[in-house]
Amino acid sequence: MARIIAVANQKGGVGKTTTAVNLAAALAAAKRKVLLVDFDPQGNATMASGVDKRVAKPNGCEVLLDEAPIEQAIVQTEAHYDLLPGNGDLTAAELKLMDAIARESRLKEQLAKVADRYDIILIDCPPSLHLLTLNALTAANGLLIPVQCEYFALEGLSSLLDTVKAVRQRLNPALEIEGLLRTMYDVRNNLGNEVSAQLTHHFGDKVLRSIIPRNVRLAEAPSHGQPIHLYDRSSRGAIAYIGLAGEMIRRERGHSAAAVHEHTGDVVAVALHDDADETLDDIVDIHQE
Ligand SMILES: Nc1ncnc2c1ncn2[C@@H]1O[C@H](COP(=O)(O)OP(=O)(O)O)[C@@H](O)[C@H]1O
Ligand SMILES: [Mg+2]
Repeated sequence: MARIIAVANQKGGVGKTTTAVNLAAALAAAKRKVLLVDFDPQGNATMASGVDKRVAKPNGCEVLLDEAPIEQAIVQTEAHYDLLPGNGDLTAAELKLMDAIARESRLKEQLAKVADRYDIILIDCPPSLHLLTLNALTAANGLLIPVQCEYFALEGLSSLLDTVKAVRQRLNPALEIEGLLRTMYDVRNNLGNEVSAQLTHHFGDKVLRSIIPRNVRLAEAPSHGQPIHLYDRSSRGAIAYIGLAGEMIRRERGHSAAAVHEHTGDVVAVALHDDADETLDDIVDIHQE
């Protein structure tokens, strides 16, 4: 059964889509079977995966409304993960679901039909806490929260956490916080350190060890319809997302003591244990080549 992780934060522009796409690709490169669900009507994760959102039909909309089988909507991507595409139709689906019975568990029901085919399912959420995000949180085992390393980074996190509490009470008691991920970390200013200190103060070891640096290649890749490791595999952004994938794989196995280096001037995402297995060695190879 797949582990289902929602990538959510109701703030826009914090790196949700960048994380969902590049983590999906990095996990697929580590030979995990991955499904990425684009659950944002903007369809950015779909486009960034090299799939044209304008022609992707059926997509998440029909699946949510039970108008098409999920198997028929899922497509393969160049980076070897599967994608349930999303686009503006999701807004219509959200509206239509308003009066539906069990409206928060539609995605959960649909993902259950394919969960045994995947190791991990990532859901890229829209920048809101409305019905689409509630569906994602109801379907998920874990919540990954990208936090942009800037002023006001923590703003809004309390309403997200209140939502998590409410979802746990009423819809999905099993929902865990997978971790908070620092994104767009800029080594040239001190903000990243300040935000890191605040996050660690409030959230302790829920703050992931991997840090995603601000890296222009990460911003360029979506316009080429490619995850970063296809667009520029030696970029710092690519290395960081491979490191994040490694950290998540290790956490999944209960190896919480990930060894991570944060060199000054160069944020290196991960250094592996001596006992790293072949899959992890493969991951390292990718960025040593
Ligand atoms: N680490 C990064 N370095 C540079 N640009 C980034 C990085 N992460 C995201 N971006 C850019 O910032 C913008 C917002 O990121 P995105 O992932 O779309 O956020 P969200 O999905 O939370 O709205 C996009 O233009 C994206 O390309
Ligand atoms: Mg997005």
